[in-house]
Amino acid sequence: MNLSTAVASAFAPDGGVARAVEGYERREGQVEMAAAVADVIENGGTLIAEAGTGTGKTLAYLIPAILSGQRVLVSTGTKNLQEQIFFKDLPSLREALNRPFSATLMKGRSNYLCLHRFETYRDGVNGNTSAGGRLIESGDRVMLPVIDAWAKKTETGDRAELRDLPEDLPLWKDIAADAETCLGSECPRYGDCFVTLMRQRAAESDVVIVNHHLLCADAQLRKSAYGEVIPSCATLVVDEAHQLEDVATQYFGIAVSNFRIDDLVRDVERTLADLKVPPRDEGYQAISRVTERSRTFFSALSMARMEAAESKARYTSETFIDYFQDGAMLAGALQGLEATLVLAGRKGPPYTPGETLDGADEMIATLARRARDLHQDLSFLIRASDTDFVYYVESRGRGLFLRASPIDVSRLAKEALFDRMRATVLTSATLAVDGSFEYVKSRLGIREASQVRVPSEFDYARQTLLYLPRRMPSPKAPTFSAAAAREVIEILERTRGRAFVLFTSYAMLRSVQPFVEMSLPFPILVQGTAPRSTLIEQFRSTPNAVLLATSSFWQGVDVMATRSAASSSTSCRLPRLVIRSRPPESRRSRRAAAMPLPTIRSRSRSSRCNRALAGSSGTALTAASSPLSTPACGRWDMGVDF
Ligand SMILES: Nc1ncnc2c1ncn2[C@@H]1O[C@H](COP(=O)(O)OP(=O)(O)OP(=O)(O)O)[C@@H](O)[C@H]1O
Ligand code: SF4
Ligand SMILES: [Mg+2]
Repeated sequence: MNLSTAVASAFAPDGGVARAVEGYERREGQVEMAAAVADVIENGGTLIAEAGTGTGKTLAYLIPAILSGQRVLVSTGTKNLQEQIFFKDLPSLREALNRPFSATLMKGRSNYLCLHRFETYRDGVNGNTSAGGRLIESGDRVMLPVIDAWAKKTETGDRAELRDLPEDLPLWKDIAADAETCLGSECPRYGDCFVTLMRQRAAESDVVIVNHHLLCADAQLRKSAYGEVIPSCATLVVDEAHQLEDVATQYFGIAVSNFRIDDLVRDVERTLADLKVPPRDEGYQAISRVTERSRTFFSALSMARMEAAESKARYTSETFIDYFQDGAMLAGALQGLEATLVLAGRKGPPYTPGETLDGADEMIATLARRARDLHQDLSFLIRASDTDFVYYVESRGRGLFLRASPIDVSRLAKEALFDRMRATVLTSATLAVDGSFEYVKSRLGIREASQVRVPSEFDYARQTLLYLPRRMPSPKAPTFSAAAAREVIEILERTRGRAFVLFTSYAMLRSVQPFVEMSLPFPILVQGTAPRSTLIEQFRSTPNAVLLATSSFWQGVDVMATRSAASSSTSCRLPRLVIRSRPPESRRSRRAAAMPLPTIRSRSRSSRCNRALAGSSGTALTAASSPLSTPACGRWDMGVDF
């Protein structure tokens, strides 16, 4: 049986899908998309498939992928959606399709515990190494034994298994398996390393589930000599493909922040302390030069940012001229640090005592490499002379970021992603612009592609709801959060909780949170207090719960699953309130600014509302319902757009 026939029979009334999906109904759009996916997997090439929300796109690509018997790489927008595919869709297909297959879930490296860093850290805290007891925050002190016990038994090292681990636990940054700090094959724990094991599992799996961040980070790393994680695959399925360009822009860009420099300084200091390097050594002098020049450079920038109205501003080589000198001094200090570390590594003890600290020479080499990368990136950013990039300075909390984003990622995406594949499927509910895929093709560097467009199954006109509050202050007004909170509270009182309240910034979340907590009797869950999957599970199992999160939190959550558990009542609804505290930038203005173009969701319901709002007064509360197949069991989405 060829693949197309096998896929068609899987979707037959007595086929595998009917067995895998409760309440299975034949959806012509889904079957059409599955046939097109089978065709491209068999014959190679690129397929762009657009099908409305809830069509069942996941099964439409997973079934041909599994039945093809080839290794298929699936990339999706968020970790939540990855987990949904891995823990929900794939197990049901394993039973239903009667065909054995293996699968691996791969997240970004920073989700995994680095055994080497963790053990060095733990021993430092316990005073077992020469460092003799590090300073440690109290939250970290509580979690350290928990992580220690878990590290001994976990098979994956994925932090999502630690259900009580706060998302923003400071300690995690020091013990995560980041590429930047990885010692690679020189690491004494290389053989048991969770990233190594994950990679080996993936290399033997039929289906590998990644997200766009990992996909792009891996593609970027492939250009350099170290760090690639994803095994080679001939077939790639990109779900939520409308997000790929934005993620690629981020990963194919360059960024330097005061945090990145502070992290390097701290890691060098710790390593020198662990190696018992004497305090008057040149290594310490080199890092104090970096610290000093970093302070001068970032304070000057920060003063300028304080006077600016926006948190993010473009710069050019001309407008950056006043800061160039300080930036160049910092770049020089980083170069000096690199040279000191390279020389020290060659010099031998006390830098590479070998017997005192495993992997000491590789640790020094890794730090030198980080100093070199920082020096190169900073030099590129302060010159601001490459016309293929747009340059920004951005302040976020105590962080100052210099960024360069490629204006056009099409060549990079083509070379780093698509050219490596024999077959590629790009799918999403929203890819076409004015009925055509030409725009997305041009942005992603795709020349030839077959196409499928499946209309939505839903009746938006009947099932959507739009709510506009009469008066709202400007998002910049000090009264804005109280006003937004008032609206949210009123709506939640009417819905008896059971809502996601999504914010465009953490700052706005934090300012609305106390009002909501004080005024409502419902359980309030807040992003950041536990891993996402735990929060969603708690949300699903807690009657009347309200979840406060940033808007990206929502993407990829299976509405059906969430909805059915969100309430015990049969007419369950899942309101989603979106609080926007900045105006959505219009395509035209962005293009004029030669910035990387945003995701286009010309046919998405929320975007339609956004546009109507942006076009009218610029300030409004919207509520747009997103329908499900049975009207009695709908969910409604809400947004406050400004
Ligand atoms: N043929 C079908 N009959 C009934 N339910 C189905 C069918 N196919 C998929 N489903 C269910 O529909 C729900 C939505 O499927 P899925 O998440 O794949 O939609 P989607 O097209 O990817 O939507 P979105 O654009 O929102 O991501 C899931 O719970 C899935 O199990
Ligand atoms: S190989 Fe890298 S990530 Fe793995 S334990 Fe060693 S240093 Fe950590
Ligand atoms: Mg989907």
